[in-house]
Amino acid sequence: MNSGMVTAAYIIAAIFFILSLAGLSNQETARRGNWFGIAGMTIAILATVASASVTSYSLLILMMVIGGGIGAVMARRVQMTEMPELVAILHSFVGLAAVLVGFATYFDPTLHLEGAEHTIHNVEIYLGILIGAVTFTGSVVAFGKLNGKIGSKPLMLPHRHMLNLGIAVLCVFLLFIFLIAGKGFGTLVLIVMTVLALVFGIHMVMAIGGADMPVVISMLNSYSGWAAAATGFMLSNDLLIIVGALVGSSGAILSYIMCRAMNRQFLSVIMGGFGAAPTAAVGDDGEEQGEAIPISADEVSQLLLDAEEVVIVPGYGMAVAHAQHPVSELTKALKDKGVNVRFAIHPVAGRMPGHMNVLLAEANVPYDLVLEMDEINDELSGIDVVIVIGANDIVNPAALDNPSSPIAGMPVLEVWNAKTVVVSKRSMATGYAGVENPLFFKENTRMLFGDAKDSVEAIRQSIR
Ligand code: TAP
Repeated sequence: MNSGMVTAAYIIAAIFFILSLAGLSNQETARRGNWFGIAGMTIAILATVASASVTSYSLLILMMVIGGGIGAVMARRVQMTEMPELVAILHSFVGLAAVLVGFATYFDPTLHLEGAEHTIHNVEIYLGILIGAVTFTGSVVAFGKLNGKIGSKPLMLPHRHMLNLGIAVLCVFLLFIFLIAGKGFGTLVLIVMTVLALVFGIHMVMAIGGADMPVVISMLNSYSGWAAAATGFMLSNDLLIIVGALVGSSGAILSYIMCRAMNRQFLSVIMGGFGAAPTAAVGDDGEEQGEAIPISADEVSQLLLDAEEVVIVPGYGMAVAHAQHPVSELTKALKDKGVNVRFAIHPVAGRMPGHMNVLLAEANVPYDLVLEMDEINDELSGIDVVIVIGANDIVNPAALDNPSSPIAGMPVLEVWNAKTVVVSKRSMATGYAGVENPLFFKENTRMLFGDAKDSVEAIRQSIR
């Protein structure tokens, strides 16, 4: 394929990627968005493979079969609850690829650039490796935190801000040394900077704890985009630059949206330390909060049949329990009995952006029943029964009432304003942020203990 055809194919692929992003912004068009993405990626891969820059097909095909095979197996095996971990580890691959391409480009014997071109190329290599290394280790730590192999508590090293600042200043200084150094010493500088960036990535994400993880995920998404764009500059690949910029900027916008949803400043999230304060099951004044009142599935079904307006608040526990299908069936059963059922979705419910929307769509819950937090929060006082299914942090009144709570200021679904709140979870354990929840001790709250899938199925059986 000549370079003109490759460029034309790249432009078509870029248009598909833009259409894909547009489609993914809305639940009803998300499926179409995915297809646009698949089409764009297929065109991009075919055009790249057919371009003149590829000289050895045997190695390329072998690598594509191995990589594609691993990807297909991983995608088939992954549970919905493990998707955030998969996304995090895939981000780490983008980071690692940027580092490897950076070194390969630096050692490329066929490249003979002079003057300003040489300097610009070296800056691209340096930045690509820097962003790639931070993305790589940051994403690996995020992967560990999300799947529980690394605790969600932030690591609070003494003088950690000075440590971060020191690494950042050193990396800028090393850039200038790298630009004036010859090949041999330049290699050493590049290796030192890579080690510093790898350490920085680990420390940055280790210092971020609990409920701030949503911002970290979207931020690493953005970094992986910039790492890909930097790789695009190194390889003079326009499509990689466009796609990297799309991912980088959409990740940055998502980080902003997540910060707004949690009422957090982006900078204070990155500085870390949130969720460090140990909390206990006590009120603002240090008093114990009293007893939680349990309820049975039969009693819940009676409450629901007596209700006119019901709101379901799903959370991470619904995903873990795979309760979305029974929840969908319960919704149908209640609708058939004339009860108006709607869903209230918190922007950071679950473990990744849009987690709950994806699960409900998979279980064929009609989109018009699914409302965002801002759309329904004011209406909750008029609701007869709110059922909280495996959610915790996102319905915690301490976020509004207790200024010393680690989640103080985070907007939450104010479910306690409803006439009755039923919380379906297995125990009195805390949620991801590790913060106790006074909701469980409120007079109008009833605790339905047990696995969410079993509990919802029991309620549905009882309604029949
Ligand atoms: P959480 O606060 O994590 O609460 C989930 C609750 O589900 C837990 O308290 C747990 O209680 C319960 N649960 C677990 N397995 C269950 C099962 N099989 N059946 C019934 N209940 C079960 O979840 P949330 O309310 O959705 O809030 C999300 C949290 O995750 C926030 O802190 C958020 O910042 C954080 N986070 C979000 C994201 C994104 S992007 N959305 C990413 C990373 C982290 P039991 O153990 O007692 O059952």
